[in-house]
Amino acid sequence: MNVKPDFSKNANVAATAPAYFSVWDLEAYYGESYIVQGVSFNVHEGEILALLGRNGAGKTSTLRAIARLDDPQVTHGEIWLDHQPLHLMRAHEASKLGIGLVPEDRRIIPGLTVEENIKLAQIAPPIGWSLSRIYELFPRLGERRLQEGVTLSGGEQQMLAIARALARDIKVLLLDEPYEGLAPVIVDEIEKTLRVIKEQGITTIIVEQNAVRALELSDRAVILDTGKIVFDGTAAEVLENESLRAEYLAI
Ligand SMILES: Nc1ncnc2c1ncn2[C@@H]1O[C@H](COP(=O)(O)OP(=O)(O)OP(=O)(O)O)[C@@H](O)[C@H]1O
Ligand SMILES: [Mg+2]
Repeated sequence: MNVKPDFSKNANVAATAPAYFSVWDLEAYYGESYIVQGVSFNVHEGEILALLGRNGAGKTSTLRAIARLDDPQVTHGEIWLDHQPLHLMRAHEASKLGIGLVPEDRRIIPGLTVEENIKLAQIAPPIGWSLSRIYELFPRLGERRLQEGVTLSGGEQQMLAIARALARDIKVLLLDEPYEGLAPVIVDEIEKTLRVIKEQGITTIIVEQNAVRALELSDRAVILDTGKIVFDGTAAEVLENESLRAEYLAI
């Protein structure tokens, strides 16, 4: 008798399927310095993950390794996005696949207007949000579209840096200290846009010194300490756990 296997009833298929985005046993060096020391975590599609830890814990290095920048050098581990092996790719390939890194220094290009900064991101595929969709999310950028990008306020420059990432067709947004140096009302404004970006199905990893604000936005959190993960759980757990916060976040 010929009985067809019924895969729909095989619960293990779902249970063992890889996460949407995962970092597994990642190790990375700057020269001889061993910085990222076996980092593993998963991120679900459409989720916001806070990547937290004290100064020098390795947060920026982890984001840079994910974006496949040359420094730090990844010597071990795997990074997967939607079944694609990022760890085998170079930075331009990771960008093409949908990794959008917004670095701490924002990298607004001098001599170019707001709009030219955004358009430059769309010079090659995969092209993401249109200018009108970007200006709908960031009306301030629309109002200032002909202003030179570097003359924007700090908050507006952060918006432009995020806008430039959205101008490409990204799957995962990596934010390195997006709230740094910004007044609480501007943080509110940026937080609101990050919630809209989440509603569009984009997955976000946010690194922030302002851990409470990041945790209020995030679904889950991982905490790094000297290059190793010391906590992986919900954002609410961190907000409620005073000793964890005191030990690793100094808040
Ligand atoms: N280019 C580099 N060359 C050598 N060491 C580096 C380099 N960049 C960072 N490091 C070192 O790697 C460690 C982790 O740095 P990283 O910038 O990833 O930390 P971080 O968690 O982002 O800290 P912060 O909260 O201060 O931004 C630090 O000890 C730092 O001095
Ligand atoms: Mg950093």
